Amino acid sequence: MTTEFTRERPWQLLQEWTASPSLIKHGLAVEACTRAYGVSEAARLGLSGREADDFIELYSIAGLLHDFDYDKHPSLEEHPFVGVNFLREQGWPEPVLHAILAHADYSGTPRDSHLDRALFASDELAGFLTACALVKPSKSIQEVEVAGVKKKMKDKAFARAVKREDITEGAALLGITVEDHIANCLKAMQASAAELGLDGVSA
Ligand SMILES: [Fe+2]
Ligand SMILES: [Fe+2]
Repeated sequence: MTTEFTRERPWQLLQEWTASPSLIKHGLAVEACTRAYGVSEAARLGLSGREADDFIELYSIAGLLHDFDYDKHPSLEEHPFVGVNFLREQGWPEPVLHAILAHADYSGTPRDSHLDRALFASDELAGFLTACALVKPSKSIQEVEVAGVKKKMKDKAFARAVKREDITEGAALLGITVEDHIANCLKAMQASAAELGLDGVSA
């Protein structure tokens, strides 16, 4: 992969297209989760060195850019199609474009690849884990635990915009339990807490 498509460029693009700080943080949170799945999948496939790095980079880019057009083009007719068309014209990797299309239920794009599934699975859960952190008095994601997240998933009044069925479906698509899916994403977001504004200090 050329350096043009490594993390720096998508990170710039996300910031160029997005005014909302919370939407930028959402991109970073989904990136953290999706990338963690890229790391484990690369290991499972026995990839190493440059090959593993390039593989994992696709997960990072898809996470960062899955909603990059949303601020400017939030309608169902436009998001994520406007963004994907833009990325396609620039020659971004096809697996990334496919995953971005597939994260939207209404696009009709099937979730075929592991990347497609990891992105879809991470999207709603990242939002939910952010909400779980922000109700802690410390606003720190380090205090969030899997059991507490599961409990909050049953509380319909909490973060009601987050579709619980997308979280459970995402775990099923990845072939893991909901508990493991929560644990994986929680660990990934905890490692990026400062960048996400969820370390209880910068929040
Ligand atoms: Fe989206
Ligand atoms: Fe999203």
